[in-house]
Amino acid sequence: MGDTNLDSTGEPAGNALTDQMKDASIKGEEEDIVNPWNVQSTSATGVDYDKLIKRFGSSKIDDLLLQRIEKVIRKPIHHMLKRGIFFSHRDMHHILDLVEQGKPFFLYTGRGPSSDAMHLGHLLPFIITKWLQDAFDVPAVIQLTDDEKFLWKDLKLEQVHQLSYENAKDIIACGLDINKTFIFSNLDYIGSSREFYANMKRIEKCVTFNQVKGIFGFGDSDCIGKISFPAIQAAPCFSNSFPHIFGSRTDIPALIPCGIDQDPYFRMTRDVAPRINYQKPALLHSIFFPALQGAQTKMSSSDPNSSIFLTDTPKQIKTKINKHAFSGGQSTVEEHRALGGNCDIDIAYQYLRYFMADDLRLEEIRKQYSSGEMLTGELKKILVDTIQPIIANHQTKRTQLDKETVMSFMTPRPLKFRF
Ligand code: TYM
Repeated sequence: MGDTNLDSTGEPAGNALTDQMKDASIKGEEEDIVNPWNVQSTSATGVDYDKLIKRFGSSKIDDLLLQRIEKVIRKPIHHMLKRGIFFSHRDMHHILDLVEQGKPFFLYTGRGPSSDAMHLGHLLPFIITKWLQDAFDVPAVIQLTDDEKFLWKDLKLEQVHQLSYENAKDIIACGLDINKTFIFSNLDYIGSSREFYANMKRIEKCVTFNQVKGIFGFGDSDCIGKISFPAIQAAPCFSNSFPHIFGSRTDIPALIPCGIDQDPYFRMTRDVAPRINYQKPALLHSIFFPALQGAQTKMSSSDPNSSIFLTDTPKQIKTKINKHAFSGGQSTVEEHRALGGNCDIDIAYQYLRYFMADDLRLEEIRKQYSSGEMLTGELKKILVDTIQPIIANHQTKRTQLDKETVMSFMTPRPLKFRF
């Protein structure tokens, strides 16, 4: 829908609901902040995602779409789609039309390597990318924006480059298939690919300084690297940026699973694509994995107490959950038994929605906690027992990776597909 004609806010021009949102802020109603650098909500249940869909001009993932995906792939839908963790999309029906016609698409996602400790929230897009890769049997390209983190953080080029390699190991440990996946560091790949660089230039020529100021909030004192960076995150949306995989084809669209904070980049890309005769990327957006302290903010590496890291020990996981996970329980056992807990704001329950695949068990826990039969301590223990093995398993897979395997994933090469 209307993501062309970006207005100066980077949101769809002439969209009545966008105007309503502006009215709301004039009247003093609080608006959630959602952009690639900041996520803030004033509500204990977190961002109002229905409002965000309207504001960004995307579409809700509804039962009809889920049924259609299930029909096309002929297997059960992933619980993160079923439970609304991936809640919004752009053009997913178009992708399914292509699949039904026997035409190709590819997956594209990425990570900004700002530290070697990724957290649980970072796993979401990679878990769903792996699931989509298996379900649709398609190539995946994964961009590591070491150049972005050099520009935005107080880090040296050598450090961000090394972090790309460290983060690649975490991404590979999510189970992506070596025959279907290309992972690249921008610092390595852009210098070696004329086609990728050419696409960056095509995109840069279509976007004005005024537009990126509106979309990303850049100001006069931002370095010029930041101003042109959005073109670098946009370029992998176009299949001919990867000639070793797709040859010179420009008609293969990307499907991008990501957190909705990354959407501004792709609203811009979708605006540019038809003007340079390329396919608009499709998207699947996830909600934010909340901070331990509550759903008002997302889990973020910059606040270690808000996060469970993929490098945490079983003891650290237990301590963080017991000490910091915001509870929806009552203040005394008596009150809790009488009134029950509030699962909508309880972080332990919310985390289980992401990582406990068993629907029946999850529903049983919800009922017991809401009725007061289950106490906060018991719920937190279930979460600790669920998360500890997931992280331990991830760490084992990561340490088993040898340098050769990582380098193979990161080498430009043909994948198992012929286009
Ligand atoms: P980065 O490294 O900030 O985040 C990587 C991916 O993780 C998602 N994410 C989260 N999702 C849910 N809950 C959270 N708490 C949470 N924190 C992070 C992000 O939305 C993202 O999908 N500029 C990008 C890197 C990038 C990229 C891309 C991302 C390059 N190309 C294409 C997505 C798609 C970045 O710094 O991501």
